[in-house]
Amino acid sequence: MPARIAPSLLAADLGRMREQVEAALAGGAEWLHVDVMDGQFVPNLSFGAPLLRALRRFTDAPLDVHLMVATPERYIAEYADLGANVFTFHPEATVHVQRHLAEIRRRGMAAGLALNPSSPLGLVEEVLADLDLLLIMSVNPGFGGQSYLPATNEKLRRARGLLDRHETRAALEVDGGITPETIAAAWRAGADTFVAGTAVFDAEDVAGAVRELQQLCTERA
Ligand code: DX5
Ligand code: ZN
Repeated sequence: MPARIAPSLLAADLGRMREQVEAALAGGAEWLHVDVMDGQFVPNLSFGAPLLRALRRFTDAPLDVHLMVATPERYIAEYADLGANVFTFHPEATVHVQRHLAEIRRRGMAAGLALNPSSPLGLVEEVLADLDLLLIMSVNPGFGGQSYLPATNEKLRRARGLLDRHETRAALEVDGGITPETIAAAWRAGADTFVAGTAVFDAEDVAGAVRELQQLCTERA
C-alpha cells in the first residue's frame, strides 16, 4: 500500500483555499486534514464547521478532521452531517472515549484517536476494536511549522506492533513536522498516513510537494 498523504489545511492560504486544495489533490493527496482548535485544549484557534461547509461545495475528497478541542463529542453529529469522513479526537480531552468512538461509527464516520507526544499508547489499548485510525502526534498540537520530535519514531514502531498484534485494520497516522527530511523514517517505523501542512502549502509547487513526500515512502526495510 502506498503512503497516504493528508495535507493540513492549517497551512493553506485562506484566500486561495480552493486553488491550493485542488493542487494538493492533483499531486495525489488522498485526504484533506482539517485541524479544529478551540483555544482551550490547545493554545490556538483555527476553524470548524464553516470550513467543512466551504470545502464540500467544491470537493468530494475525504475530510480527515482532527479535533483539538475539549469535549469533542459536542461536534460528532454536526460534522457527520457536514460530510466529515474521519473524526479524530484526543482521549486526553474527554471522558467516555469508547462511547464517543461508537457514536462516530454509528454516524457513518471512521473513528480516530490522537495522542499527544507525552501520552502513552496505553490510552488506546482497551478500545482498539472501536478504532479506525490511530494518530500519533509528532509535535505538541496547536501550531503548524514545528519540528518533528525524534522520539516519535520509536512510538510509531510500538504503535505498529500494537495494531498488528491485535489484527486491527486501523490506519496509523502521524502529524506534525512531516517534511522530505522526516517522512521516510516515519514510514519505516510503520506509519501509513502522513499529515503535512507547511511542507505542502509553503511549497511553490503544491502538487509536486505532495508527490515528493509520497515518493520518499518506498521500502520499509
Ligand atoms: C498541529 C496540527 C497539524 C499541523 C501540521 O497542531 O495538528 O496538523 O497543521 O503542520 P506541519 O506539517 O506544518 O507541522
Ligand atoms: Zn492535525
